[in-house]
Amino acid sequence: MDYKSLLINFMSGTGNSFRAAAWMTKMGKQRGIRSELYPIARCREESDVDKGSGELLGVVFPTHGFTAPWHVIRYALRLPLGRGKHAFVVATRAGSRIASIPFPGMEGTAGYLIALILILKGYSVRGVMGLDMPSNWIALHWGLNSVNSGFIIDRAKAKADAFINSILEGKKGFRGIVPLILGLMLSPVSLGYLIIGRFFLSKLFFASGDCTGCGLCAESCPVKAIKMVGNNKPRPYWTFACESCMRCMGYCPNQAVEVSHPFAVILYFLATLPVSVYILNELGESAPMGPYLFVVSALLNYSYILFVFFIANLVLFLLIQIPLLNKLCTYTTLTHIYRRYHEPDTKLGDMLKKQV
Ligand SMILES: Cc1cc2nc3c(=O)[nH]c(=O)nc-3n(C[C@H](O)[C@H](O)[C@H](O)COP(=O)(O)O)c2cc1C
Ligand code: SF4
Ligand code: SF4
Repeated sequence: MDYKSLLINFMSGTGNSFRAAAWMTKMGKQRGIRSELYPIARCREESDVDKGSGELLGVVFPTHGFTAPWHVIRYALRLPLGRGKHAFVVATRAGSRIASIPFPGMEGTAGYLIALILILKGYSVRGVMGLDMPSNWIALHWGLNSVNSGFIIDRAKAKADAFINSILEGKKGFRGIVPLILGLMLSPVSLGYLIIGRFFLSKLFFASGDCTGCGLCAESCPVKAIKMVGNNKPRPYWTFACESCMRCMGYCPNQAVEVSHPFAVILYFLATLPVSVYILNELGESAPMGPYLFVVSALLNYSYILFVFFIANLVLFLLIQIPLLNKLCTYTTLTHIYRRYHEPDTKLGDMLKKQV
């Protein structure tokens, strides 16, 4: 198969998916194919999507909650019709290595969900793959050390090169059927993550006293989810738009972005109070019956949870302005001692612009 052009649209928090996409574009260039990299975050208008009229479109992004991030799903839904154009999908996932034993991540439905949307849009999908890169979920665990991440990255490069070469040679490659089956079994978890989980995670971020108010996190957030609040000493405020990609946490020059674990426990407790039961009981006989009861109760619960997240985060934001309470939040969370992670060769600026 002689492709004349390759375009890869990527989403990346801490540089893993960017790096994988960059390896693939480099391989395209080595084969004499015009190859471009374009961040999904910059695809704001439909005309921005799929820039470059590439004959082969690649979509590369991280796995979140065993599926594709909402940001990528929305991008795929907004793509113009494929009209038979070739495409491939790569979901990077959380590889790790403990005592020299490598452990794979689990992309679940991430790759095939985006592939399905592409097929429904008229693309001819040539390949799907999950690719282990160092786990970047540094809100949950410390970042991998340079030896372990280097090991995982080297293996990923070999795998990514082999995959793109076979696609460019016209072969098809559909990997990750077992993760897909597991992902389908875990789809309630993925749905829960997409609808509620990501809002929950975004509401746990705060800036410690080490924050200088430089604004880098707000400028470089791929979905512009951070607002700098305050005139004298501006502080980042995380809005609901946050995709929990970990970029702000991984790249803050002062390691000032923290995730409050004690606050997570409080928020979980508050969000799971049976408020819908209380309201429906109060309504007595005028409460809806039968199937309506389920819908009304779900709507009440969902609205209540979002309300709790919103109010609680506002309270957290106000409290951490008080230096003593900021210190309390900072020293009671594990992220304060966690090593940060971003893909070692990827600078923030690399992910913000189009690369030809
Ligand atoms: C909020 C969040 C959820 C994640 N969920 C999963 C998951 O379900 N399965 C998995 O294998 N990796 C998961 N990961 C790990 C990332 O997908 C993986 O490290 C990826 O390579 C990060 O790429 P990026 O640096 O381009 O964002 C998750 C990471 C984050 C931050
Ligand atoms: S959290 Fe970090 S990147 Fe964001 S404003 Fe503070 S110092 Fe700058
Ligand atoms: S606020 Fe931070 S974690 Fe959330 S989307 Fe922006 S850069 Fe990613």
